[in-house]
Amino acid sequence: GQKAYHEQYRPQIHFSPQAHWMNDPNGLVFYKGVYHLFYQYYPKATVWGPMHWGHATSTDLVHWNNKPIALYPDSLGLIFSGSAVVDVNNTSGLGKNGQAALIAIFTHHDQAKEKDGKNDTENESMAYSNDGGNTWTKYAHNPVLKNPGISDFRDPKVSWYAPDKKWIMTLATKDRITFYSSPNLKDWTKESEFGETLGAHGGVWECPDLFPMTAADGKRIWVLIVNINPGGPQGGSATQYFTGDFDGKTFRPNNTATRWIDQGTDEYAGVTWSNTGNRRIFLGWMSNWNYATSVPTKAWRSAMTVPRELKLVRVDSAYYVASQPVKELGNLKDETKALPAIAVKGEVNITKMLNRSDNQFQLNLSAKQLKSFSITLSNGAGEKLIIGFDEKENSWFVDRSHAGESGFNKDFAGRFAVKRIANTAGTDVTLIVDAASVELFADKGLTVMTSIFFPKKPLSNISISSADGFSASGISYSQLKSIWP
Ligand code: FRU
Repeated sequence: GQKAYHEQYRPQIHFSPQAHWMNDPNGLVFYKGVYHLFYQYYPKATVWGPMHWGHATSTDLVHWNNKPIALYPDSLGLIFSGSAVVDVNNTSGLGKNGQAALIAIFTHHDQAKEKDGKNDTENESMAYSNDGGNTWTKYAHNPVLKNPGISDFRDPKVSWYAPDKKWIMTLATKDRITFYSSPNLKDWTKESEFGETLGAHGGVWECPDLFPMTAADGKRIWVLIVNINPGGPQGGSATQYFTGDFDGKTFRPNNTATRWIDQGTDEYAGVTWSNTGNRRIFLGWMSNWNYATSVPTKAWRSAMTVPRELKLVRVDSAYYVASQPVKELGNLKDETKALPAIAVKGEVNITKMLNRSDNQFQLNLSAKQLKSFSITLSNGAGEKLIIGFDEKENSWFVDRSHAGESGFNKDFAGRFAVKRIANTAGTDVTLIVDAASVELFADKGLTVMTSIFFPKKPLSNISISSADGFSASGISYSQLKSIWP
């Protein structure tokens, strides 16, 4: 076989497990200069199986060190998704010598109960670490939150609500969110429910997140992230969000539209790091439950998105959550080539103007006047991936109809489009391209589309096309160095 981390389709700038199956990011927490990434992991196969929490750490959000598995299944069940916090005030009493412990709060999923048709298969439990996240001990009196009889009762996201000096647990409970509170992470009281009649409901609600954000104009808004599977904008799984207000008990939406953090086919279970101060850093799983278990990678299955910084951006009278790749991705930039402004009518191949040697890169483009245009990545084998904007439809799109292998799922090959959100004359676009993925950030990150694809040969040609004519200014291309040795 090929060397680990350099096999066909292996992402070079995204986290992927060296081997076997991965899904959701879990327990995202920043502590003493280290970003922890735990993840749903099945260490025995490249398909979903009894879940563990795999573990990796980073000091810059782009280079990752693999750590031993943090949590193994036990008599209470499999270790499903959840979050982690720094218990700064040692409210749990689990910190050694009164120090802050790291606390992970996760779902125990009991397969034996599931087989017996019981509806209390999912309960919330806790584990703690007193060595900065290296080793974990499960709390002796798990579970800490018992299921009242709801078939889907999972993915706790815990955060500190300072005004009331209490913890809030945001829990996905089938078709809605249920909020609980606790003074000590052990005793939980139900506060309220949200969402039964709002948002997308084409599937089960999963992996929520709740946090305040402040817009550039000083406006403070609470954001509630709710992942859903299926029922996403392109079919299958996706990440929706709500904006509103939260008072420690109840979430009150200020907008009734259904909105998505990422409108592409392949971002799911996205949530944010805790304990990062004023930054909001988001990470998603770069796949879709429609075909995650059958994509054509051999040693491992799936990768994470690039970490993204979230911002509130105002359009007319509404505030949207916009995303951009974290600035740390710049650590991987090799050589940046800036191209002079070009007026495109027909097709312009820019490959030769760039110094291309690797597959993975960042391409930025801006324009004073947004018109129909597309960027095509292609190879000599007739495979191509097209990313662009259609002025008539007022939509951004990713077309992977002919971008490589697709026989593993009947809906994989296709053109995926979304309505533009911004209403400015001009635009800015960032593309992050890796061996088997593209992430499109358009209009200050108001429109984000993540898409995976599996070309038999690298797509080493880049061209820009426009039938009507399109003037691109500020094109810049940076090769990105592989994060793997
Ligand atoms: C989301 C999800 C979660 C669950 C986990 C199980 O992808 O279904 O709701 O905790 O995956 O692996």
